[in-house]
Amino acid sequence: MDIARTPATPDGNPHLADAPPPPTQPPVIRREDYRPFPWTVPQVRMDFRLGLAETVVRTELDVARNPQAEGTPVLRLNGDGLTPLEVLVDGEPLNSWVMEGPDLLVTLPGDAHTISIVTSIDPSANSQLMGLYASGGMLCTQCEAEGFRRITFFPDRPDVLSIYRVRMRGPQADFPVLLSNGDLVGEGTGEDGTHWAEWHDPWPKPSYLFALVAGDLVAQRDSFITMNGREVQLAIYVRPGDEGRTDHAMQSLKRSMKWDEEVFGREYDLGIFNIVAVSDFNMGAMENKGLNVFNTKYVLAEPDTATDGDYDAVEGVIAHEYFHNWSGNRVTCRDWFQLSLKEGFTVLRDQLFSQDMGSAAVKRIEDVRVLRSVQFPEDSGPLAHPIRPDSFREISNFYTATVYNKGAEVIRMMRTLAGPAAFRAGCDLYFDRHDGEAATCEDFVVAMEDGAGLDLTQFRRWYGQAGTPEVRVAVKAQANGVEVELAQATPTTPGQDAKEPVPIPLRVALHDRASGELGSETLLLLTEGEQRFTLPHAGIAPVLSINRGFSAPVVIRRALSAEDLVFLAAQDDDPFARYEAMQDLVVTHLLAAVQGDTGEQSGRAAIRQVLAAVLADEGIDDLMRGELLILPGETYLAEQLAVADPGRIHEAREALKGWLARELEAEFVALHARASGADAGFTAAAKGARKVKTQALVFLAAGNPALAARMAAAQYDAAVTMTDRQGALMVLAGLDTPERTGKLLDFYQRHRDNALVIDKWFALQAQSLHPNTLSHVQALAQHPDFTLRNPNRARSLFMAFAGNPHAFHASGGEGYRMVADTILALDPINPQTAARFVPPLGRWRRIEPVRAGLMRAELERIATAPSLSRDTFEQVSRSLG
Ligand code: TRP
Ligand code: ZN
Repeated sequence: MDIARTPATPDGNPHLADAPPPPTQPPVIRREDYRPFPWTVPQVRMDFRLGLAETVVRTELDVARNPQAEGTPVLRLNGDGLTPLEVLVDGEPLNSWVMEGPDLLVTLPGDAHTISIVTSIDPSANSQLMGLYASGGMLCTQCEAEGFRRITFFPDRPDVLSIYRVRMRGPQADFPVLLSNGDLVGEGTGEDGTHWAEWHDPWPKPSYLFALVAGDLVAQRDSFITMNGREVQLAIYVRPGDEGRTDHAMQSLKRSMKWDEEVFGREYDLGIFNIVAVSDFNMGAMENKGLNVFNTKYVLAEPDTATDGDYDAVEGVIAHEYFHNWSGNRVTCRDWFQLSLKEGFTVLRDQLFSQDMGSAAVKRIEDVRVLRSVQFPEDSGPLAHPIRPDSFREISNFYTATVYNKGAEVIRMMRTLAGPAAFRAGCDLYFDRHDGEAATCEDFVVAMEDGAGLDLTQFRRWYGQAGTPEVRVAVKAQANGVEVELAQATPTTPGQDAKEPVPIPLRVALHDRASGELGSETLLLLTEGEQRFTLPHAGIAPVLSINRGFSAPVVIRRALSAEDLVFLAAQDDDPFARYEAMQDLVVTHLLAAVQGDTGEQSGRAAIRQVLAAVLADEGIDDLMRGELLILPGETYLAEQLAVADPGRIHEAREALKGWLARELEAEFVALHARASGADAGFTAAAKGARKVKTQALVFLAAGNPALAARMAAAQYDAAVTMTDRQGALMVLAGLDTPERTGKLLDFYQRHRDNALVIDKWFALQAQSLHPNTLSHVQALAQHPDFTLRNPNRARSLFMAFAGNPHAFHASGGEGYRMVADTILALDPINPQTAARFVPPLGRWRRIEPVRAGLMRAELERIATAPSLSRDTFEQVSRSLG
């Protein structure tokens, strides 16, 4: 028998090397160990015989020695759970391969060869949703970061770029639509009701950008003419029945294409751009070349089932993935440590796009709110890492708010330093210089230095240092101006004890409280540990407005009087600074209240005064008003304390909300009535009206629950948009009122056929302020519609719960146990998703001792479970370490 055709089995197979026993701990991969791959793979030809339970893949690789790397005759092809059914070298069954753990090693005699490998996979058994998997009868792939190795043996690393030709064949009835990257170059019918298609992608790409989709899908089609007059065929593929819900996604795509041409000079580079919506997906979406695959959550939107927030999220994610075509695909990453090269940059690009599409000020505040509530806690906890990490065990754990959102802030600071025109020149040079390459963060910085004319020597520290810098501000009035004294310090983070000063660009203005005169803005660049600046000032009551527009991702510590904060909140010409002054007032008051300070009455009065002004101010639109009405979140408040008591924070925040609502009840009721008169359209005014309407109910629910319940029920009944319906139901779900059950049931029955809305139904109850949330979630986990196998559904219940402080931090530790049980149940099904539930428990060091002990005990219980995934093992051990 032909030995090379024998599947490798552990017993007596000559192809199994004498590998060491499997390690008890997954190995650490280090950035400094990067070496170029010894082989290039210029061309890949793949042939798929599609089936839900068995897909057979034949892959042909043209390989050649890489002149840029140290030579070796051994070619390592990564695999993950694969068995080679056949290995040919130049068409011959050469007996020159062995398995080493999951990988296939082939020893090659010459400088260039063709390797042909056959593998077989069972997509229906793939619950990890990495590689080729089945979702609702269709087949699709997810290869980033290391999923391609679950399809075939390959050098599955982003610095190996190849041109792919993909042929697939399958039963036409099951898979009427056959898609892959690039251009469709042939299709036809075969025997026994099969058909086939062949796709060719002319752009060299790493394996993580490979995609294949096969299924019963319908397309919404459109086209786009590029800046150079080329026509691009656009299609969004969804399940039959969903085709009426893709309009907003299509419009968002066309707006993104236009914007990237106008603002970044980037043109699309293929004749086809396809998007496919999939309901089982680990993340938001994926930028596969010419074939983006999306979570349905970020494609499907119509007024009856999607909120205004959902609409904005669809637009943002469509833009993000489209923008990756240049920032990620044309210029890709050399290794996964450089992930922020594509993700941070692309997040900045999608943020700037969304700023231009709607209210720039509101978008900026929303982005800062996310950064502070997700990234700041990450940066101050056990999982802190630089935007360019130095090591990992499982790369999936590093798709984080730090790499994405702080990464975007770091590039935004370069833009602030350079100004938009020079920044554009730096970006142009970067794209030009590295087109077709796998680049590093350092390459980006050098291009920005050369193209924008910046010296970023010290700035590079932002890439290597974890932790959120704190800036202390002192202001001293002098004869001819004001002296601003700034001092920066970055707290230590795991593995980084000594921190160096980073350059911090701070947009500032000096206003005068006495005259109400507003000063003009200047940019201060804090580079030292301590530094003094003198600003001219003629008035008598200077008030410093600092970090305007959130020009740097830092924590500002300033000791402003309540009068100064009230002044800034009411008068500052920078909308972010107004928001910030209000947040400061509330944070100061609540932290005092939490620490038992009883002299906080004046703080309350100042907040009431500002809030009343926000409710009355006709100079701000409702979208901004709605933003200003959002009180700082409990996680952000906890973040301000070395050790927090989540129970007290919750009580203090609810007490303030209730007091404000009682003080301003008439104003909130009037706001709700006024906003209820707005139309159901998508103008800023109509969206703003919906936003303040529900905000008013949120306050009233804390101050006058009976009234709020009546108003929310009425809003629910009158709702013609999901925004109004969900807003009302969210408020009702938190109240112990008869309306609650009826409306929850109505909502379920009305939307039971729409999975994305049923996700909302689960999430609303898990996020609720209701005192029995914990037992509600326990019951919902038994609901026939609940499953851990669908990531959206799993997150809708348990991520929502883990983000609900009063329930998660229930004093007996039941919340912690529930999340730990979820991790243990989910880990064998979908480790990538399971590991994402670890960070909430990992916060234990910053929580009061009794709860901290309970959290830690749950982490230890997970750690001792047998056969944990790499993903969960890494997150749990870092959290305990
Ligand atoms: N690159 C994707 C993005 O646009 C992220 C992503 C999608 C991903 N699916 C994934 C990352 C699966 C890891 C695993 O941000
Ligand atoms: Zn991305």
